[in-house]
Amino acid sequence: MKVQAVIFDLDGVLTDTAEGHYLSWQRVCDEEGIPFTRQMNEQLRGRRRADSLRLILGERQVDEATFNAILARKNAYYLEYLETLTPEALLPGIPQLLDALDAAGIPYAVGSASRNARRVLAQLGVLERFAFVGDGNTVARAKPAPDLFLAIAQALDVSPAASVVVEDAQAGVEAALRGGFGVVGVGP
Ligand code: BG6
Ligand code: MG
Repeated sequence: MKVQAVIFDLDGVLTDTAEGHYLSWQRVCDEEGIPFTRQMNEQLRGRRRADSLRLILGERQVDEATFNAILARKNAYYLEYLETLTPEALLPGIPQLLDALDAAGIPYAVGSASRNARRVLAQLGVLERFAFVGDGNTVARAKPAPDLFLAIAQALDVSPAASVVVEDAQAGVEAALRGGFGVVGVGP
């Protein structure tokens, strides 16, 4: 069967923003006196911002106002980091892969848990290339629920079975499999 569409995860697939998320969480955790390590950061791949903070806090209790203030500050730091992002930050082979998909007439989209997905793609200079951008605001249930990828397939009018998802996070691979997509896992 001919592949009808490719859906790319963003962070860790098109670009390696894990470092930016790490630096931002580290900064806010240092300010708050919350322990945080690179190893913990790895557990946050593909997780929404609030879910990430819940994981970081573990048993620690904070009131709702503090929780939201930490989220806002983390995002402000991450937005500072994004200012430094340029097309150079596209991972090796991505521009060539997009060119090849264009040449083959295969549409491609982004399916990301990030609410900053459009901004990241704009910084990378590729926002306009994608037929659809599904982000952290597109559906209510996050990966590993298949909802985001299914919404994108619907928007592109393609069947999941004839589409391929490219993911670096376990939750993302699971979401793709649950939605009946072909899936390519990248990274560790
Ligand atoms: C995912 C990242 O793509 O987006 C996570 O892998 C991140 O690390 C999540 O927490 C949410 O991103 P944002 O930009 O909405 O805080
Ligand atoms: Mg990812």
